[in-house]
Amino acid sequence: MQVKESVIVITGAASGIGAAAAVALAAAGAKVVLGDRSEEKLETVRQNIKDAGGNVVAKAVNVTEEQSVQSLMDFAVAQFDCINVVLACAGIIRDSFLVTPDRESGKVKKFMTTEQWQQVIDVNMTGVFLTLREAAIRMVDNKWEGVLIPVSSINKAGELGQLNYASTKAAVALWPKILAGEFHARGIKNIRVAAIAPGYVETALLTAIRPEILQGIIHEIPLGRLVKTDEIVATVKFIIENGAVHGTTLEVSGGIIGKGLAK
Ligand SMILES: NC(=O)c1ccc[n+]([C@@H]2O[C@H](COP(=O)([O-])OP(=O)(O)OC[C@H]3O[C@@H](n4cnc5c(N)ncnc54)[C@H](O)[C@@H]3O)[C@@H](O)[C@H]2O)c1
Repeated sequence: MQVKESVIVITGAASGIGAAAAVALAAAGAKVVLGDRSEEKLETVRQNIKDAGGNVVAKAVNVTEEQSVQSLMDFAVAQFDCINVVLACAGIIRDSFLVTPDRESGKVKKFMTTEQWQQVIDVNMTGVFLTLREAAIRMVDNKWEGVLIPVSSINKAGELGQLNYASTKAAVALWPKILAGEFHARGIKNIRVAAIAPGYVETALLTAIRPEILQGIIHEIPLGRLVKTDEIVATVKFIIENGAVHGTTLEVSGGIIGKGLAK
């Protein structure tokens, strides 16, 4: 498979990794279909790609809603007659420890709320499930060759304060194995599945944090710097173009591994 001329649906395309992938893949000749719930930012990304001569369309989507995801996939097919690649970037964090006791009384003063738990499960897990499923239905029915690329995180190892987020990222990291096996069992040969688990990526979210905290993060990365969005995009291209990459999750982290244990 080549990136050039492939139809690539990207969720979470209004920002960060999704936006960087949209720009780079369009520049490499892909037909890109952008989805995000943030309509204004999505339109900016779409316009920038269009201005640069890219083949791009965009549609608002809420990945937690089945019908909304179905509409995005139908839109992609209506625009470009095909879906080859799905890059599921839409994701959120709502960090909190399970319980935090008050230092003086020892009684719980804060806890992870049900909303914090559920919102992250809804977007990062159900949203990715719906995105992959709706693409897979259309790809199987039409025998389109392609690859599903969910985005996990090295925090799948069990980052503290992220019971919700780490759980979703651990789940998603497992899916390529399950789905490659299921596709094999059902005789589906035209779809591969490979996830990417980034480390700390140089997105606006990270570069905006206090310099001393950022330095602390960088200090833990063997490579000595954050991962660049271009390096995640290079991995997306590698997955697309290497037909043997299937049923696996690739870590792109500069050598840092998730913590997983209390410090
Ligand atoms: N940035 C990092 O260091 C890093 C590291 C590891 C994994 N990741 C993962 O990579 C993915 C992208 O991260 P990012 O840093 O680019 O984040 P980001 O916040 O810049 O972008 C995420 C996008 O998802 C969209 N989104 C959120 N909820 C949505 C919903 N319900 N429906 C549709 N769109 C929705 C947001 O509007 C936003 O544009 C996420 O899954 C994240 O967990 C990021």
